[in-house]
Amino acid sequence: MCPARALTGPAPRTSIASAGKEAHVTRLPDTIDATEALLAGQGYVAARALATVVFLALKLGKPLFLEGEAGTGKTEIAKTLAAALGRRLIRLQCYEGLDAASAVAEWNFAAQMIAIRTAEAQGGADRDALKTELFTEDYLIARPLLEAMRPQPGGAPVLLIDELDRTDEPFEAFLLEALSDFQVTIPELGTIRAPEPPIVILTSNRTREVHDALKRRCLYHWVDYPTFDRELQILHSRAPEAKETLSREIVAFVQKLRSEDLFKKPGVAETIDWAKCLLALDVIALSPEVISDTLGAILKYQDDIQKLHGSEAKRLLDEVRRDLTPA
Ligand SMILES: Nc1ncnc2c1ncn2[C@@H]1O[C@H](COP(=O)(O)OP(=O)(O)OP(=O)(O)O)[C@@H](O)[C@H]1O
Ligand SMILES: [Mg+2]
Repeated sequence: MCPARALTGPAPRTSIASAGKEAHVTRLPDTIDATEALLAGQGYVAARALATVVFLALKLGKPLFLEGEAGTGKTEIAKTLAAALGRRLIRLQCYEGLDAASAVAEWNFAAQMIAIRTAEAQGGADRDALKTELFTEDYLIARPLLEAMRPQPGGAPVLLIDELDRTDEPFEAFLLEALSDFQVTIPELGTIRAPEPPIVILTSNRTREVHDALKRRCLYHWVDYPTFDRELQILHSRAPEAKETLSREIVAFVQKLRSEDLFKKPGVAETIDWAKCLLALDVIALSPEVISDTLGAILKYQDDIQKLHGSEAKRLLDEVRRDLTPA
């Protein structure tokens, strides 16, 4: 395993101008501790194993494939890294039917038609010259994969390929080329290679298995629900206004719910949302009534909500209070 060294101070930052805004570029962390600190600086509380795999992905320049339950912080890792390192975030949101053109680049047909009409109006252009001109970068609309292969201010961007399990297998096969050699091919233009490989984060909710060939090119990590202590830290970071007693009750209750037989267990996102709802209602401690009234923040299926109505919420809350009482 890689040596872990304590962070001896903030990573050096330099300013760059990006799209008219002042952005900061931070060098890549050189230890696991520094990676944890980098993420924590943006309010992201990473388990040691996650910080390790992020550190390795950055160090080795390998894509990172994150699989896990919904709302456990997979997408947020990419956003956090981009913000912490001062890199541009480029997101490819996957969906069923996503094809190479929508992911890499499309020809701007409207602009091409205008160019053709203008040339015709000007008295008939040189057809061959026009044909060549129409298939240059001027008429290309870059989509996320092409954007990610281009040089960006501040260094290689963070490329988030989100919810890969929603695409189909042919698209995965196509991604292999992009991720193996960090290059994309546009038939009319040729192959475009990234001068510096992007930092690639892929996520999946595992609604289907992603092919081994793609996984082999990545470092893999399963993002699990956090432990009680880590979830409490996350809540402190994302909803710092919540008092300690209420935060502990919220986290313990959500953790208890995850051990119940539910159709859809609440993720960390739901814990944070619920805390914010309770704060908006000026709640200072949980009660069965408050839980019943705000269940829609943590459970999103009527069958699950139904199970928690009535005495069940009280039973769980009593158990939570017992667990939280020091022995
Ligand atoms: N470890 C963490 N530290 C700080 N915030 C977290 C952490 N994990 C989750 N969150 C918060 O939870 C919310 C949901 O995270 P995110 O959208 O990344 O989940 P996800 O795993 O991508 O979910 P989905 O599978 O539904 O897309 C975000 O607002 C994020 O800030
Ligand atoms: Mg996500």
